[in-house]
Amino acid sequence: MPVFDPEKLRADFPILSREVDGKALAYLDNGATSQKPQCVIDLVDHFYESGNANIHRGVHYLSRTATEAYESARETIKKALNTPDSQELIFVRGATEAINLVTNGLEEKLCEGDEIILTIMEHHANFVPWQVLAERKGLKLHFIGLNEDGSLDLDAWKAAFTSRTKVAAFTHISNVLGTINPVTEMTAFAHGQGALVLVDGAQALPHGPADLTEIGADFYVFSGHKVFAPDGIGVLAGSREILNSFRPYQSGGDMIDRVSTTGTTFRNAPGRFEAGTPNISGALGLAEAFRYLGEIDWLAAAKHEKKLAGLATGELESLGDVRFFGTTENKTAIISFLYDIAHPHDIATILDTEGVAVRDGHHCAQPLMDYLDVSATVRASFAFYNNESDVEAFARGMHKVKRFFG
Ligand code: ALA
Repeated sequence: MPVFDPEKLRADFPILSREVDGKALAYLDNGATSQKPQCVIDLVDHFYESGNANIHRGVHYLSRTATEAYESARETIKKALNTPDSQELIFVRGATEAINLVTNGLEEKLCEGDEIILTIMEHHANFVPWQVLAERKGLKLHFIGLNEDGSLDLDAWKAAFTSRTKVAAFTHISNVLGTINPVTEMTAFAHGQGALVLVDGAQALPHGPADLTEIGADFYVFSGHKVFAPDGIGVLAGSREILNSFRPYQSGGDMIDRVSTTGTTFRNAPGRFEAGTPNISGALGLAEAFRYLGEIDWLAAAKHEKKLAGLATGELESLGDVRFFGTTENKTAIISFLYDIAHPHDIATILDTEGVAVRDGHHCAQPLMDYLDVSATVRASFAFYNNESDVEAFARGMHKVKRFFG
């Protein structure tokens, strides 16, 4: 039975008890990367201490057990995501590589004049690869704007589909605004228009599980380092049929069927897209993170995160002169703001002197910054392991900003 005891969970993350220049760490940069529980750290350590070998290549004991562990990690993650039977799960470096793999595969399937629908809230990972593809192939990109509260303008999004629309790619949750998009409804609509769908789940999975069968997208991507797992590992869950029709994204060892001096044939997905020795310990760590997350009561966790974000928002409001970006009810615990008396970089620097880690800048979402007509914001992004002391440290830091610049 899943439980939620925030202080007990917090104790699972050793880094959260460290200090920064004599101040307790208040880690509010979870949108950039999350911290790792001891069980994930131990599992990766344990692999190198006693289980390390290459996979898919040896008959010796260590190679066999490493291969079994790697393939069983794939199954654990598929189960955690309720991946449809029709989908394969490819291990990649992260969401960025997953999207590049898809845009690369689509290159020979799209023709000049075909259209792709994006949203203006995409981070660069779900923006630049499509732009590069569009430039190469002469495709037309549509960027759908937002309502006042930072939610997607769904009417405009639906109206953008034409008979030439081949793909709709959108984020599950905005890394800047925290907006949660209605991805199941959007996927069904796009499919009804005959378009393929890619959902970027990088910011969604740290805030709760996703049911990929229910969402129904052709591709769902995310990065391990944002879901409490190591970096350099991520996932592309995608339609087996479409993936097997893509030419391999990279070529080399392990992804082949037969190699000779006259030519090479390739394996089907997932092997087709996992050339070379993969990030074995990363895959194991990612599966362990999903096992750990599977024990959390996510309804209670979401309530906890929202409560903390609400407290932090209240503290900011009490300062006056604070502008918020992303105020829809249907959002996760991410606060983006500007405090007009100080530059975001100065705010983040002063917060750092109180041990508070936030991100400032464009958040790898420059088109969104242009759309909002700002060059940067400050972003405080919460995870289930944050607590009220983190909010108090954040408030102390913001009052320091007021004293300094006010
Ligand atoms: N996309 C990451 C962020 O939001 C890097 O900070």
